[in-house]
Amino acid sequence: MSRSELDPSHIMQVGAGFWASKTLLSAVEMGLFTILDVEALTAAQVGERLGLHPRPIYDFLDTLVALRFLERDGEGGDGRYRNTAETAAFLNRRSPSYMGGILEMFNSRLYGFWNDLTEALKTGKPQNELKRTGQAMFDELYSDPARLEEFMLAMEGISVGSFHALAEKFDFSKYKSVCDVGGASGRLCIVLAFRHPHLQCTSFDLPVVTSIAEKTVATAGLTDRIRCTSGDCFTDPFPRADVITMGMILHDWNLERKMQLIGSAFQALPEGGAFVVVENLIDDARRENAFGLMMSLNMLIEFGDGFDYTGSDFTRWCKEVGFRDVEVIPLGGPASAGIAYK
Ligand SMILES: C[S@@+](CC[C@H](N)C(=O)[O-])C[C@H]1O[C@@H](n2cnc3c(N)ncnc32)[C@H](O)[C@@H]1O
Repeated sequence: MSRSELDPSHIMQVGAGFWASKTLLSAVEMGLFTILDVEALTAAQVGERLGLHPRPIYDFLDTLVALRFLERDGEGGDGRYRNTAETAAFLNRRSPSYMGGILEMFNSRLYGFWNDLTEALKTGKPQNELKRTGQAMFDELYSDPARLEEFMLAMEGISVGSFHALAEKFDFSKYKSVCDVGGASGRLCIVLAFRHPHLQCTSFDLPVVTSIAEKTVATAGLTDRIRCTSGDCFTDPFPRADVITMGMILHDWNLERKMQLIGSAFQALPEGGAFVVVENLIDDARRENAFGLMMSLNMLIEFGDGFDYTGSDFTRWCKEVGFRDVEVIPLGGPASAGIAYK
């Protein structure tokens, strides 16, 4: 193929991807999609509400139109900007399906940390808050209550769609109880309890997280169905349950700790019980799931030795521990459930 037939546009699109990313993240940070909740606004009205300098208002809003995050009716000063169906559903803070928590964390933490990806690639060391303090990841992250709260919302944002898909696609009818290890705000238990009224659920996480989970569960009116318990999954036995779930837990840790967690799940399950992970499982050939692969780079940034993995890695590890059968169920987008049966 001659040079003139080659197309560099994909290179440019990805290379300048941070322009698009930061434009969207700033819009979320300032609550643009929330102020457009009720009515379409002119550029001047948006500028006034968000406190924008006149120079960039049209560039900012029209970039979001071109990127398909806003619609515009009309032209120039009379043009009115409104949400698209997707931004109204997922990026308006007043929407029940708001998932901007993860974008807020991308903006406030990860956008800056990824600037040091090259250093992480050369040293294998985390590039987040740990770089400054040297503290263990969750000790450091949770030492600031605002950051803890932001992390909980971020986890809900990235995970809730997969939780709903799991509730639909996995047959929970054979089981009576579920324990979600590393359950954060309790969202997976809440989704399962609503969808499967016969289930009793336990959300298990570090003590500092439990009061947040209790609040979320109480707001959902599910205190009689969901127990929120505290513990350390590396030093305490897991609460016993017919199904043990872990959403994006294994990927946080190195292989030794992954194996310890899989072993603890095996111990806590009865014969016939199921161990379910919800992760951005990488395709076995490691060629397709770019999001899962970049999530693994993100674990390098956050933990250093944490890493994402394929369905066949999960199968091998679970069989080593003694699980009988393992299957992978796609959950939509880059996420899948890995399920190991005891
Ligand atoms: C990446 S978040 C995943 C949250 C949630 N499961 C999801 O899928 O959205 C990891 C969770 O593991 C919890 N965690 C970290 N270390 C833990 C430990 N030693 N014992 C119990 N939970 C822990 C964190 O508090 C956090 O809620």
